[in-house]
Amino acid sequence: MSDALDSTVEQELDFNWEGLRAQAVEAMEHAYAPYSHYKVGVAGLVDDNRVVSGCNVENAAYGVALCAECGMVSELHRSGGGRLTHVVCVNGSGEVIMPCGRCRQLLWENGGPTMLLWTVSGVKPMSEVLPDAFGADDLA
Ligand code: THU
Repeated sequence: MSDALDSTVEQELDFNWEGLRAQAVEAMEHAYAPYSHYKVGVAGLVDDNRVVSGCNVENAAYGVALCAECGMVSELHRSGGGRLTHVVCVNGSGEVIMPCGRCRQLLWENGGPTMLLWTVSGVKPMSEVLPDAFGADDLA
């Protein structure tokens, strides 16, 4: 890897994104989506090399549905905390999808501006996925 490449690009090129996507697909297979029939899975690498994942869980009271990212963030904290460094979210066909707006906020809280997300238009840092984000610093 050339020294000329900055560390973000290096992380993107070296990282096994397909392996992380496979874990998101595995999580998606556990989705409970009897109302929308739209299954979602997500997987994230943590800064201690753990992988956490989640699937969407719907409810007869439609608005109570839990997005896949909510489950992943819960597992992140339940299994020891840490910061998300790489995340990918997939639909029922295993295709990469964009997290909804609320879930981008969850990713921001738990990964910050440098967390890398595989988006529908390539790998991007959260600073591009959620520009000018509201975060913990705003409460200081
Ligand atoms: N969904 C997620 O799990 N994550 C997202 O980022 C987008 C939407 C779920 C919620 C609902 O169960 C289904 O996809 C259809 O909106």
